[in-house]
Amino acid sequence: MPDALIGLDVGTSGVKGVAIDKNGKVLAVAEEPYPLSTPKPGWAEQDPEDWWRGARRVIAQLPPGPVGLDGQMHGLVVLGEHDEVLRPAILWNDQRTGAECEEIERRVGLQRLIELTGNRALPGFTAPKLLWLQRHEPDVHARIRHILLPKDYVRFRMTGERTIDAADASGTLLFDVANRRWSEEVCAAIDVPLEWLPAEHESTVIGTAGDQAAGALGVGIVAPGVLSVVLGTSGVVFAVLPAYQPDPQARVHVFCHAVPGTWHAMGVMLSAAGSLSWFRDVVGAKYGALDDEAAAWAPGAEGLLFAPYLAGERTPHVDPDARGAFTGLSLRHDRGALARAVMEGVAFGLRDSLELLRDLGVEATVGRVSGGGARSELWVRIAASALGVPLERMQLEEGAAYGAALLAGVREGVFADAEDAVARCARVRDRIEPEWDYEQGYARFRELYPALRPFEG
Ligand code: XUL
Repeated sequence: MPDALIGLDVGTSGVKGVAIDKNGKVLAVAEEPYPLSTPKPGWAEQDPEDWWRGARRVIAQLPPGPVGLDGQMHGLVVLGEHDEVLRPAILWNDQRTGAECEEIERRVGLQRLIELTGNRALPGFTAPKLLWLQRHEPDVHARIRHILLPKDYVRFRMTGERTIDAADASGTLLFDVANRRWSEEVCAAIDVPLEWLPAEHESTVIGTAGDQAAGALGVGIVAPGVLSVVLGTSGVVFAVLPAYQPDPQARVHVFCHAVPGTWHAMGVMLSAAGSLSWFRDVVGAKYGALDDEAAAWAPGAEGLLFAPYLAGERTPHVDPDARGAFTGLSLRHDRGALARAVMEGVAFGLRDSLELLRDLGVEATVGRVSGGGARSELWVRIAASALGVPLERMQLEEGAAYGAALLAGVREGVFADAEDAVARCARVRDRIEPEWDYEQGYARFRELYPALRPFEG
C-alpha cells in the first residue's frame, strides 16, 4: 500500500497539489502559479505547456505516490498528428462562442440537446469552441487529430494515455450524460469525428474528475442530501441527484458525478471569489482588512448592491455580455461597504442557483463550503444567511485536489470505493447557521440584472 496519495488540481490560476495518507491526513501541499492570457475582451486562454510544467514542479515538492487529477472543466486542448498542441487552450470562462452556441442548438434542436446531454449550449462548454475553430481558424481545425480537457492533457503527458472521466466529459456537450458515453448523434451534428475523442471511463477507474465533482467528493458529497457550495474563482451550488434528471429548460447543468451510477445538478456563477479578488486588486487592500471593514457594516450595507457579472454570467443568466455594477452608492459608503456588497452580491448569485435546484426537487438542508472565499468567516456567514441553510466547513481546506487524492486512493484499492474514501477522510470542522434576514435584499437583487441589461457591454 502506498505511503502517500497525491491529488493535483490543474486550476485556472495554478496547479495545486496535496499528498495525504490513507486516513486523509495532509502530509504536504505545493502550488505553482501560471498566467492567464486574455488576447481579446471576453477571451481566456492558457498554454498547456504551463500546466505540465506546473504539475511537474508540484509533484517534485511532494512525497512519491499514485497521482489523481482534477482540473478546470470545459477547456479545449487541440492536438495534431504528432500530439503537438495546435494553439493555446480555450478555457471555461472564455465567452467568444455565443454565435456557435446558437448554431449548435439550431442544428441539434434545443429539446433534443437537453435530452441527450442534460444541458444547453453554453459559451464556456467545449463543443462550441470546436465550432468556433472551424469557422475562425480553419487551418488549425483541419489539423486536429485529438482533443483533450486541461487535466487530461497533463495526464496524457504523464502516462501517454488519452482518457477522460464521465464527470468532466459531461461538460463538453458531446457526452450522452444519461448513458455515460460519447453521444454519436451530437458529434455527428457538429462535425466532431469520434476518433478525436479520448477514451471515457468512470472517475474511480482512472482517478480523475472535473474540479466541481472532485471538490464535492473532497467535502464528502457522494449522495443526495448535502449541497456543495463553492466560493472559488467561480461560484457553485452543487447537489447529487437521486437519478439522471435534466432540467427541462437546462437552467442548471446536469452532469455525471465522480461516483459511478450517480449524477449531479449545479449552477455556476462565473465571478464569485473572482469578484472579491478583482475588488481587492482595484483598491489595493489585503483580504483581512477588507473582511474587518466589511464586518463593520450591517447586512445590506445601507442599500448598496453589487451585481457580480464581471465576466458575463452563466447561471441563472446565460449572458456573456452581462457586466458588473454597484448601485445605491451614497456619500457614507466606504471601502468596507463596497467589500460587503461584493460578498452579498455573490451570495445572492448563489441563491439564484439554489432556487433553480429547488425547482428540480433538490431538498437543501445543509451545505459544505469550500474554495478560497470560505477562508472568510464573514463571507460564509453572509452566504449561509443568503442561502437560508447552515454551511459546514471542513477540517481540511485542500478543495478539489483533496478529492483527486481520494480518487487516486480508490483507483489503487486503498479505499474500497468513493463512499469508503469520504467516510474515512472527510471531516467537518464547524457549522455556521444562517443569522441575518436577507429576503428583502435578495428580492432587490433579483431586480438588478433586468435593470442593467440596457447598459451591457
Ligand atoms: C464548472 C466551471 C468552473 C470551472 C472552474 O462548470 O466551469 O467551475 O471548472 O475551474
